[in-house]
Order: sequence, then structure tokens, then C-alpha cells
Amino acid sequence: MSNLIITNARIITPLGNTAVKGKKMNDLHIIDCGTVEVTDGIITYVGDNRPNIPEGYEVLDAQGQVLLPGFVDSHTHLVFGGFRPEEFMWRMRGDSYMSIMERGGGIVNSMKATREATHEELLQKAYKFIEVMSRMGVTTVEGKSGYGLDRDAEIKQLEVMRDINANPDRKVDIATTFLGAHALPPEYKGRHEEFIDFIIDEMLPLVKERNLAENCDIFCEKGVFTVEQSRRLLSAAKEMGFGVKIHADEIVTFGGSELAGELKALSADHLLHASDEGIRAMSENNVVATLLPLTAFTLREPYARGREMIDRDCAVALATDLNPGSCCSGSIPLTFALACIYMHLTVEEAITAMTLNGAAAIGRADKIGSIEVGKQGDLVLLDTDTHYTLPYYTAMNSVKYTIKAGKILTY
Ligand code: NIG
Ligand code: FE
Repeated sequence: MSNLIITNARIITPLGNTAVKGKKMNDLHIIDCGTVEVTDGIITYVGDNRPNIPEGYEVLDAQGQVLLPGFVDSHTHLVFGGFRPEEFMWRMRGDSYMSIMERGGGIVNSMKATREATHEELLQKAYKFIEVMSRMGVTTVEGKSGYGLDRDAEIKQLEVMRDINANPDRKVDIATTFLGAHALPPEYKGRHEEFIDFIIDEMLPLVKERNLAENCDIFCEKGVFTVEQSRRLLSAAKEMGFGVKIHADEIVTFGGSELAGELKALSADHLLHASDEGIRAMSENNVVATLLPLTAFTLREPYARGREMIDRDCAVALATDLNPGSCCSGSIPLTFALACIYMHLTVEEAITAMTLNGAAAIGRADKIGSIEVGKQGDLVLLDTDTHYTLPYYTAMNSVKYTIKAGKILTY
């Protein structure tokens, strides 16, 4: 565990242990030239520079550069076998994401490669992504299963994430999400209800018993799983103590965000086609609206109504959705740029969305997501003295150091 003192930093952070809603997302706490102390990995001081530096600490002089909470990428599928570049090329020629899925490609394509991959292959591949994400300031990443779609391969994906979390030198923490209902595997063709039964009766208890996932998710979408099936599965998961999340209203308006409100889910994600009623349901029930602008960009779809969601008092989070199909990118800089340029978020709102609200979307807002005493010493030092570079240096990395639990990372 590391002891670190960062002096002369322009500290910029949201505050609190819960998601920040609506226009309050702009209310960042700023200390123009201050100090952050991390002791045994936990923040123990935030404030003005002090006359003396206590012994036993590494010291980093930030020289007036911006210090932010570590970024929380609260929606990724970072453990998977194979890649699907051919589908990307088909989409560039005009095929839709769903038409590729309907003819047997898409998630089922990655399922085959993931079932074939060994634990070690999946592990090494995930580490490569983590390295790239960490350089861009990510200190916590959510990781979903959902490319196994059977008992052994779902467990294999979750065990890969468990092993990364057990590594004392890990660069990110992974918040694990069980997404067994990501697609219908071919062996269950035409038997959606039976597959949902299998997930509820066999998979959820097993995942719980082995403590392999904190949260549970489902792809609620026309042609994938219905609202009723999603309600059934997520209600059972909630009953068993999982936090619940939902892939909602991505391709068509389908009622997923309304269901998220009804279930008081941690988050509803994608939301490209969320209805007015869905936005109201998320706001009223404190569901984090998790927006994934890289996916809209790569699918050539219209962006989610981020500005309107914030104006209507939703808590908005931003995440990358890194996955082998719809969006093979974990780019934090491009996410900031798209959020500000196309979804009309202010830079301050985007920072809250990528830190504290991301933490809330995975149920960890009490531990990470802001620079406050008692939280984990996960920090990002920018190479600039203004946070406006986050979108302004468009799709270019402005991170100088990523700091994980008080340790300055090297690559
Ligand atoms: O979040 N939409 C569903 N799931 C992923 C895509 C998965 C895939 O295409 O492999 C998503 O976009
Ligand atoms: Fe996703």
C-alpha cells in the first residue's frame, strides 16, 4: 500500500457518496493550488498546501497541473475471445447491427471464440486492454460476462476478472457484472423463457455462491430479451442481492429505461432511444443514465439525449462500452469529446459523469469517484492546468500520470 503526497495541484472534483443529479453535476469543488495525501492507499488529507511534509511519503509536485479523481469506466465488456473486424466492415457498407445479429453473427460470434479460448488467453487479452485504459486515466472498470452464454464459459469470464482483482499490482479494479442474458445461445433457439429459467435457477445461485459478480445485467431489446423477461430475471437477481443494470433502449424505444425505474436499478445504459417517460422514470427513481457515445459513433446512430436528461434532473454517467462488436474502443478522450460536442454536456458535467456518477452506476460511490478523505487514492494528473483540454484536445490523451491507490503507475 502506497503513501503519496501530491503538492501544488489544481484539485478539481465532484463531492459526495452518491450520484449527482441534473445541473448539480456542474458543481465541482476546486482548490487552485493544494495538496492531496494518500496513506496506505486511502486519501487522508485534501486541502491547502501545508508547510511541512510528513515523513514516509513519496512526494509529487504537480506544478499547478489539474488533479482529478481516477476515471470510472462503468460499462465495458473487456473479457472476450476473438475479434469481429469483418462485421465492422459490413456495417461500414451499410448493414445494421441487428441484421448481422439476426444472421448468426454478433454476440454469438464472440460466444464461440470465448468458449474456445483458455482462461490464460482471456486473461492476457484483458490485461492488454487494461494497460491502454490505465494510460487514459481509468482506475476502475466495470467488466461484464456475457460471451459464454453457458455455465462454464460464463464462469470462466468471471474468474478471469476475479484473478485480475487478486493481483496486488493491478492497474485497475474491476467491478464484475454477470450478463448471462446477453443473447440467446444457439442451443436454446426458440426457447427464450427456458434460457431465462436456466439463468435464474442455475447461474445466479452459482455466481452468488462463488461470489463472482456484484451486479447483474441483461440486453433488453427488440429481438433479444423482452421487458417481461428482463423484469423476471432482474427481479430474481435483486432478490438474491445483486445490484441490477440494464442495456436499455439502444436500438429501438422498448421500455427498458421505464423498467430500470420500476426496479430502482443502479443504471440503465445506452438509452439512444429512451422515451420521455423513460427519462422521467430514471430521474424519479435515481437510476444513473449511463451514456455510451462511442457506440453511437461507431454504429452511426444518433446520440442519446444527454443534455435533456441532465436538464430533466437525471444523474448521467459516461462510459466506453468497450466490446468486440458494436464498439471496439475504450477511448476516454474521444468519449469526453463526443459527450461535449454532440450530447452538449458541459466539461464539468462530463467530469462528474466519468467519475462520481460512474462510481454510483457500479454501486461504489462511497469508495471512489471523488477526491475526499476516506476514499481510495485513485487519481489522474493531467498534463495541463485546465480541465477544458479533456474535450478540447480532441481524442488526444491529456493524462500525465494515473495514480492507483496512491501508486504512480508506469508503463
Ligand atoms: O453494449 N448491446 C449489447 N451489448 C454490447 C454489444 C455486444 C457485442 O456486439 O458484442 C453493447 O453494445
Ligand atoms: Fe454493453
